[in-house]
Amino acid sequence: MNNFKALRVHEDGARLETLGLEELDAGEVVIKAAYSGINYKDALAVTGKGKILRRFPMIPGIDVAGEVVESGDDRFSIGERVLVTGCGLGENHDGGFAEYVRVPVDWMVAIPSGLSEREAMALGTAGFTATMALVRMEDNGSNPSQGPILINGASGGVGSLAIDIFSKAGYSVTALTGKAEQAERLRRLGADEVLLTSELEFGTRPLERAQWAGAVDSVGGDFLAWLTRTVQPWGNIAAIGLAGGHALNTTVMPFILRGVSLLGVNSVECAYDLRQRIWQRLETELKPRHLDTVVRGEVDLAGIAETCEALLARQVSGRTLVRFS
Ligand SMILES: NC(=O)c1ccc[n+]([C@@H]2O[C@H](COP(=O)([O-])OP(=O)(O)OC[C@H]3O[C@@H](n4cnc5c(N)ncnc54)[C@H](OP(=O)(O)O)[C@@H]3O)[C@@H](O)[C@H]2O)c1
Repeated sequence: MNNFKALRVHEDGARLETLGLEELDAGEVVIKAAYSGINYKDALAVTGKGKILRRFPMIPGIDVAGEVVESGDDRFSIGERVLVTGCGLGENHDGGFAEYVRVPVDWMVAIPSGLSEREAMALGTAGFTATMALVRMEDNGSNPSQGPILINGASGGVGSLAIDIFSKAGYSVTALTGKAEQAERLRRLGADEVLLTSELEFGTRPLERAQWAGAVDSVGGDFLAWLTRTVQPWGNIAAIGLAGGHALNTTVMPFILRGVSLLGVNSVECAYDLRQRIWQRLETELKPRHLDTVVRGEVDLAGIAETCEALLARQVSGRTLVRFS
């Protein structure tokens, strides 16, 4: 457990280092990592293009799955398969881009028996968040009979998994992507229709033609504003991300004249029972049918930085896993 490899970010950049356990942040449990995954937030942290890490040096990586090798709490025992997503991992606590990860026990979830460590990380924060969007929309009255759900950022991690998960839950899905060459792959994931951002007319009126029963937005900015103007009466929009911008320029009209709801999704801080409920559904009725199509490849610790640059340059589709030997 001593002398293990980790990707650590310093003020002047990220580098591969050999560390000892005593250098990791405190926690009751030590996990031997099997897999992690690369999320948008990880790309910002590793490249330094976003202020994600709360101090330097720090190990990024907001997700990890592996086996307990040391436990100071009787809720988890040695040998158990566990995962952590969010909770501050890889933001204010040394994260998942390391062969060993030490975490507070309250962050840990036992990997459901229907999922392998690799599948748990193919889902990771992206699949967890897409499912949280579905849960929030269902809790606010969404159901498949109301019409199509628009999913933007469709070729990305959250978008790809949302397509698979919503279509498995019975929804008709329209995928919106900037990558024409991804259209066929998005159909294979479960999209009934694929729209290209280059063909989109945002319009300027406070209310445009209502086209979508609901929407899953991981892009933000003009794309989210357009969704508020084009979602049908009583439709739900799950606001997840800001890959295209954090501003939201819209009016109150969709909310007061169409009863549209904008539902916030926060996968980092989430009540433990909701966390477990989401993983239980991901193991069973919502388990994506096309995880092999969602995962574009695997890298080792040395390959993370290059993937992060490509992800921010919009050259990556789907999920990239980090595999530990
Ligand atoms: N709220 C939460 O708890 C939570 C959890 C997870 C992720 N997120 C956020 O959700 C977003 C997506 O995360 P991810 O891990 O899925 O990232 P990702 O894999 O990079 O996917 C983002 C996708 O958004 C689209 N996109 C990127 N830049 C864009 C731009 N400038 N304009 C329009 N579209 C753009 C691209 O899809 P196309 O090329 O197909 O259009 C891209 O593949 C990020 O903002 C992330 O921080 C939030």
